[in-house]
Amino acid sequence: MPEKQVHIISHPLVQHKLTLMRWKETSSSKFRALLREVSLLMAYEVMRDLPLEKREIETPLALMRSPMIKGKKLCLVSILRAGNGLIEGMLDLVPSARVGHIGLYRDPETLQAIEYYYKMPSSLGERQVIVVDPMLATANTAVAAIKKLKADGASDIRFVCLLAAPEGVEAFHAAHPDVPVYTASVDEQLNEHGYILPGLGDAGDRIYGTR
Ligand code: URA
Repeated sequence: MPEKQVHIISHPLVQHKLTLMRWKETSSSKFRALLREVSLLMAYEVMRDLPLEKREIETPLALMRSPMIKGKKLCLVSILRAGNGLIEGMLDLVPSARVGHIGLYRDPETLQAIEYYYKMPSSLGERQVIVVDPMLATANTAVAAIKKLKADGASDIRFVCLLAAPEGVEAFHAAHPDVPVYTASVDEQLNEHGYILPGLGDAGDRIYGTR
């Protein structure tokens, strides 16, 4: 398992679409459509090195051993609610993936992440698990979500976000050095409210138009 990896997905299409998403005039419907496109493109990069195994198949002309993705169907995990915005594009690419959901909120007094929803497919330990949340800001939620998934047996985990803050990447890898992070950008910093600068605002609000 790679140590403390951060993969920046620099594909021009991802970077171009991300710029459109950052723009404050971009509507929710356009933002959602762009997020779906970007998440498909990101999934392509995140899954680039999935292990293959040869399976015997029959073409119209001959028997052959041909590569297919090894092991159980992979599991996408959405951190609610903004994570859902990344799931559809990934499912466009991997329609047979299983999907888990985890909901966490921050207790205003203790600032601890409290779980309010958790539903996962079986046999997490035998699946490639890909956790998605558009923004890796303080990383509190992502750290708690991955802790829970590990406690539930997951061992091969990747984390995908659209944007990360340097502080978030550091906190994330302090807790989970074995989990690689895939992102389209590591931005400049967090502001005093825990928002990423320059960022794109509140991802959940921009996806669902709830500002
Ligand atoms: N969550 C968001 O939606 N945006 C940020 O900038 C930080 C956390």
